[in-house]
Amino acid sequence: MTQRWTPASWRERPAKHIPSDYPDPEALARVEAQLRGMPPLVFAGEARRLKSLLAEVAAGKAFLLQGGDCAESFKEFSADNIRDTFRLILQMAVVLTFAGGKPVVKVGRMAGQFAKPRSEATETIDGVTLPSYRGDNINGMEFEPAARAPDPERLIRAYSQSASTLNLLRAFAGGGYADLHNIHRWTLGFVDGSPQGARYRELTDKISEALDFMGAIGVTPESHPDLARVEFFTSHEALLLGFEEAMTRVDSTSGDWYDVSAHLLWIGERTRQLDGAHVEFLRGIRNPIGLKVGPTLEADELLRLIDALNPNAEPGRLTLYGRFGAEKIAARLPALMAATHREGSQVVWAIDPMHGNTLKTATGYKTRPFDRIMAEVRSFIEIAQAEGVHPGGVHLEMTGQNVTECLGGARAVAEGELADRYHTHCDPRLNGEQALDLAFLVAERLKAGRDPATRAAAE
Ligand code: TRP
Ligand code: MN
Repeated sequence: MTQRWTPASWRERPAKHIPSDYPDPEALARVEAQLRGMPPLVFAGEARRLKSLLAEVAAGKAFLLQGGDCAESFKEFSADNIRDTFRLILQMAVVLTFAGGKPVVKVGRMAGQFAKPRSEATETIDGVTLPSYRGDNINGMEFEPAARAPDPERLIRAYSQSASTLNLLRAFAGGGYADLHNIHRWTLGFVDGSPQGARYRELTDKISEALDFMGAIGVTPESHPDLARVEFFTSHEALLLGFEEAMTRVDSTSGDWYDVSAHLLWIGERTRQLDGAHVEFLRGIRNPIGLKVGPTLEADELLRLIDALNPNAEPGRLTLYGRFGAEKIAARLPALMAATHREGSQVVWAIDPMHGNTLKTATGYKTRPFDRIMAEVRSFIEIAQAEGVHPGGVHLEMTGQNVTECLGGARAVAEGELADRYHTHCDPRLNGEQALDLAFLVAERLKAGRDPATRAAAE
């Protein structure tokens, strides 16, 4: 690990889940060269800003809300779709800020989340075997040989979709849409009539009243611009290292390397080998980074990974996302948290309650029971509080669309209803109602942890 790092040094390490079957490797190299000349999607200064906000989370003073599609797709790319996920994040942030009493750091799993690690390299249907679908920036989902062959031009298309997504997100974040005075307008139509909708309205009424009062005493968006805008950041899994390498540049202000494809990049559960390509690549960029932590990781290996990825214990540099599953979290997380706490690692601990709670129904749908998602979040907060660690955030697969992909929730999506609006290109996502429900739960629990009196009452 002490060897010299370059944006290409990952190429000497074993790399999992990076396609090696491009029919024309020279075409891939040409596309990567072309990407090297493309403008950055984000600026190094923004990545540093996110790192400083995450340092606040590490110190227990803020909360991380990160969410978006499992995988973005070319087909579902539209302004409405981006707006709906963005406003769901705003709604959740309002709930968490108001009820949880801490600032919320808002990060989209958006504008670059395309590539997927797949457990099987190939898929067989009716005796025909083709390469698995690996994400729209690699190949196509249709079960045809031409679609499934990796096509480097897809990287350019993904770059351009990320650029326009980010452009719209920046406009929404700063151009007036995110003004707290618009709080009632963010309610998604289909959530409006639900129990969460009513609860949300109650809360927004209180906030509107407070805003009216503040306006009367002269606290307005003109005097306090933060009332009318949010800081919004992007993130994705750094899986396709050829693409990430091409997007990695020296920042002229600091002289350091930044991956300018997103503010935050993370390493997935399947690519976190200590001597592997993904750890090698991410250790050298100065962005805030994340690491998924699953049920097989032992405390000593986690500490070695932390040592490789954040050797100077820089606060905000590294976020750990637990993803154990509701049944396993109690047996696995306490020892890991105890270890980082003991070592003074300065990491953010967050929970990804999605990936450990996936199952297949008898009819073949990949789904996630909402109860188990909620149970893992609840355990996460309890364990963190018992270990004296700040339960710092949630990382969710969710969408502002009214999908039926996860079972249960207030409106109880039943097994037979999954087929109604099952649109995901990869894993099942929370819909707006389910996500808002989860935000209320987290807010309550955080508040209970903050104030011993409410805590006793909640128990
Ligand atoms: N800028 C503040 C923040 O991000 C307040 C704010 C403005 C806000 N619009 C918001 C908070 C939308 C949550 C949601 O915290
Ligand atoms: Mn996923």
